[in-house]
Amino acid sequence: MCGIVGYAGRQSAAPIIVDGLRKLEYRGYDSAGVAVHDGRGIEVVRALGKLRALSEAVAKRPLEGTLGIGHTRWATHGRPSEENAHPHVAGKVAVVHNGIIENHVALRRELIAEGVRFSSETDTEIIAHLVDRALRNGARSLFEAVRASLQLVTGAYAIAVLNADEPLTIVAARHGSPLVLGIGENEILCGSDISALLAHTRDMVFLEDGDLVELRGPGPEAGPTARIQTMDGVPVERPTKRIDWSPTMAERGGFKHFMLKEIHEQPDAIAATLRGRIDLENGDVHGGEIGLDPVSARAIRRVYIIACGTSYHAALVGRYWLEALARVPTTVELGSEVSNRPAVFFEDDLVIAVSQSGETFDTLAAVKAAKAAGARVLAVSNVLDSAIPRLAHGELYTRAGPEIGVASTKCFTAQLTALLLVSVYLGRQRGALDADAGRSLLQGACAVPGFINELLGDADYVRTIATSLVDATDVLFLGRGYNYPIALEGALKLKEISYAHAEGYAAGEMKHGPIALIDASLPVVVIAPKDASYFKTLGNVQEVRAREGRVIALATKGDEAMHDLAEHIIWLPEAPEHVLPFLTVVPLQLLAYYVASRKGHDVDQPRNLAKTVTVE
Ligand code: M6R
Repeated sequence: MCGIVGYAGRQSAAPIIVDGLRKLEYRGYDSAGVAVHDGRGIEVVRALGKLRALSEAVAKRPLEGTLGIGHTRWATHGRPSEENAHPHVAGKVAVVHNGIIENHVALRRELIAEGVRFSSETDTEIIAHLVDRALRNGARSLFEAVRASLQLVTGAYAIAVLNADEPLTIVAARHGSPLVLGIGENEILCGSDISALLAHTRDMVFLEDGDLVELRGPGPEAGPTARIQTMDGVPVERPTKRIDWSPTMAERGGFKHFMLKEIHEQPDAIAATLRGRIDLENGDVHGGEIGLDPVSARAIRRVYIIACGTSYHAALVGRYWLEALARVPTTVELGSEVSNRPAVFFEDDLVIAVSQSGETFDTLAAVKAAKAAGARVLAVSNVLDSAIPRLAHGELYTRAGPEIGVASTKCFTAQLTALLLVSVYLGRQRGALDADAGRSLLQGACAVPGFINELLGDADYVRTIATSLVDATDVLFLGRGYNYPIALEGALKLKEISYAHAEGYAAGEMKHGPIALIDASLPVVVIAPKDASYFKTLGNVQEVRAREGRVIALATKGDEAMHDLAEHIIWLPEAPEHVLPFLTVVPLQLLAYYVASRKGHDVDQPRNLAKTVTVE
């Protein structure tokens, strides 16, 4: 959590940093700050609240200078306040930090014993004091002072540091939290992810854990430079990669919220995730990125999927496909639960880590455990070179483009796409699917963008239904089979952004408890397309109606029986059964969006949440 940006160039740094932070606000948004070197010293402006407050503060007190660092915060140590906002300053040093310093209590005590006075409750301020102390004790440069200080620190961090005595230099380091360099013309930047830097360059250098980098802005005679070393002082080269995301992909593009834009981008995200990966002629999937040759694919005894939140729901749909199409036993586990019980991994397991950000702490920790036990790991992530793909043996990137809304939408359906590809690949290699079956499944996948466009055409009708849910304090979502995870996802979307209590349930479980809740005040959203379990789910609808529950149904066009039972019906196109989860989730995303929007909530940045959860 937390986002950092650094800029060293020829333009005014503050607006560039604030603009970069705007792209990172999804990582945290309880306070923000910026520090700029104006050639004489460092000026800092910080503000409590969203970035807008910082923009206003900077407008009132313009910062001159072409080198600076900035931060947007999601509080871990110390409540959200201006004092706890970054940058933190000690002597001539200013620091921004993403991560957690685990030995902060001992270090704080040591520094206090030396006479240091703290002005915040944060762990980050310790780094500022350590670097300041190293400089006062004779470190030759900021680079050396930061190196010496980080040797005393344990935990996870990405940091960027300024020194009032070095007006052209930013020192940055990465250990467990992401940090990317952007190499522009006459400017060099660093940031927590590429979206913060894209307005300036597409040439990115992804730092590795343990990298320490000195960024020097352009001088009168020389252009900008980046010097990278390991913590032990060994020079290292990291390749520059050209990114194919465009800056406009991280803009709202005429939509009121990023979430709505991202819901509408799903057809493109799915098509892009399929592109170049399928072989329709042979009814197969090109498996190179999956990192499993046919022999290894046949040797897999179990698939074990690890994920959190929305990605966990995608994983549950994935299990359905893996078992149905590849006939491979599949376990799905929450990242946080893997570390809370003695999970068992085998060398012939394929562990699939599903994570939009590629950084989620719990998923990452579980992947490390699986890898240590000798399992093969495949990462499904949307963020190039993020921590989880770096650890994995294979990476199947979703190509959803940057997802800014905290509530995940297009990454969910892109994850489904990736998991369907893996399922067909394993099915083909393991002999569970022949070429015709593979081809027909893939043709179904290729048709999904068209079906979703059709559903998006009915968005206004979903908005009307949302009006009837604005005052609901509880909503129940029911689904069966592969639509059970979609019920979970529909409920998660609604609670995340509308703050209403919502629960997803397997429809077959209704009579084992939740039926007690049903009365005329409880809206029940039932996912009931015409599929193999349609009649059973229709039975649930009748049970809800018998108790005067209000039914909002997702049903296949032409379903007369549903027509007579439900208060509202969102019609689904007739589509092959295996692609239905792609379609049933879209109206539920829209429903959550319109309820939250109608309530006037900050849909893209819901309270208490952050998009990337890098803490346990
Ligand atoms: O980056 P990840 O996919 O690993 O994130 C997992 C969850 O934190 C995430 O899906 C979260 O539940 C979203 N806010 C859902 O909209």
